[in-house]
Amino acid sequence: MTGTSGRTGRLRIVTGIAMAAALVGGAAAVALGPPLVGANAAATADTLRAAAAQSGMFFGVAASPGRLNSIVAREFSQLTPENDMKPETIAGAGGTIQNTGNADTLVNYAQTNSMVVRGHTMVWYSQAGQLQGASQSTLNTYIKNALLKWGNKISYWDVVNESLDDNNTGQRRNQWPHTLDRDANGDGDYFDASDTDYIRESFRQARQVVQQSGLTTKLCINDYDVEGLTVRGGAKNKKSDALYDIVKTYSQEPYKYIDCVGFQSHFNDNPNSIISDDLQANIQRFADLGVEVHLTELDIDDDLSNNDIGDGQAANYRKVVRACLNVAKCTGITVWGISDNESWRSSERGLLFTGSNGSYQKKSAYYAVLDELNKGRQTTSPSPSGPSPSGPSSSPSSSTSASSNPSPSNPSPSNPSPSNPPSSSPVSPPPPAGCSASVALNSWDGGFVATVRVTAGSAPINGWTVTIPLPAGASVTNTWNAVQSGTSDTVQYTNVSYNGRVAAGQSTEFGFQGTGSGTGMTAVCAAS
Ligand code: G3I
Repeated sequence: MTGTSGRTGRLRIVTGIAMAAALVGGAAAVALGPPLVGANAAATADTLRAAAAQSGMFFGVAASPGRLNSIVAREFSQLTPENDMKPETIAGAGGTIQNTGNADTLVNYAQTNSMVVRGHTMVWYSQAGQLQGASQSTLNTYIKNALLKWGNKISYWDVVNESLDDNNTGQRRNQWPHTLDRDANGDGDYFDASDTDYIRESFRQARQVVQQSGLTTKLCINDYDVEGLTVRGGAKNKKSDALYDIVKTYSQEPYKYIDCVGFQSHFNDNPNSIISDDLQANIQRFADLGVEVHLTELDIDDDLSNNDIGDGQAANYRKVVRACLNVAKCTGITVWGISDNESWRSSERGLLFTGSNGSYQKKSAYYAVLDELNKGRQTTSPSPSGPSPSGPSSSPSSSTSASSNPSPSNPSPSNPSPSNPPSSSPVSPPPPAGCSASVALNSWDGGFVATVRVTAGSAPINGWTVTIPLPAGASVTNTWNAVQSGTSDTVQYTNVSYNGRVAAGQSTEFGFQGTGSGTGMTAVCAAS
């Protein structure tokens, strides 16, 4: 988008061996170490690229030739030209390519430093330069020339960028190249065979060039404000739903044109640009289509209303990185610049470093991202604000149990146990603990995300089990913050280590994603 919108391992040490060129998911692939998908990463890496590589991910940055300081190759395994591959710079008359000096510099730097390149971008309403207003035929010429110019040196190309309208309308933009579209039967979409759709035609051309030239380059669609299933206030994110329909249509048979989707991830105070709790579920929804998902232009305003400068921003970065890590097909994250001072939105201080001209200082957000990356992928994720599932309980009350914590001042002989009963019986047994559970549903055609709230009754509980009969045909594909048993018919969820204890009247939440319809689900809670 333009600046005018309101939205606004340690490298696994490979001694003596040049780090292999990496590519998560294919293309001119760079191997930064084997992916440890599904497990916590064992090593503690001290750069972003090495930490991400442990999960088979790239961690990248947008840059221009003037920013290629040593930090770029040290910290990042992927490079997006921030401006130097846009048609404004490299499109000549009639779809020719020109003026590629800066772009070549970036591609060569990436090659030298085993970095994946994302081409950004081909068909875009903004910064279109000599492509502005072009016919589909000229666009096709340009797409072919751009793909062939760099071939497999570019692993991912944003073929279509920002095709959808602002303000959560769920519509396409009402400006070129959308003006090339024709809705022949007037049914409100451009997916019918009789319709004309510049998105379909542009991807068709790109797919044909890739196939005929034997390229491994992956073809992506990229947009912003598409990150959550919902926007602020809980309404459906119609822009994300519209993107989902496009990707669903053109990534599947008979087309199979789209390989990857980019969530730009410029998070800020705009109601449609928030970090919603359903970010992970939305990433998963697209991933379930079989495409790779990338967070392509990440920056996080440090002045969100729910956030303070410093730790608040770091916690938000942690949450976003965790959401990607928890989805196996979320294969890369790119921050939109190195340093706040050099960012397109410097006033919002949204990046991981401060400083300029190569003299950079790491922010707390940097350390949060590094730490989260080092935890690796997890199938069941803790909430970012919650305690680490692998860490010790920090609750003082849980560590003062006489039976579980013998110490000189609390010797075991006096502990109550079956073989060593307490000298006095309790006056009366504690009241039976109880809990209730409610389900909130977010649905789309063919799938849903359920958020389940577990609430303790009049007494605290130490654990819970929630039983949910699923509607016919529904099945569960992914769960977070609970241990799942079963995937269809009746499923059961029990607490994980960090959310079993719930104080009287208080609540905790877990979630799951499913295919089919989740409408009408009810949940029964049993406490322990
Ligand atoms: O380099 C010239 C400089 O010589 C001149 O003095 C100055 C005067 O305005 O302009 C400089 O160029 C600017 C360029 O950034 C480099 O800083 C352009 O005016 C300015 O328009 C351009 O902004 C870029 C913006 O896209 C244009 O839409 C931002 O750097 C870039 O970060 C931003 O990136 C976009 C993505 O491509 C798509 N997603 C949203 C993202 C943020 O808007």
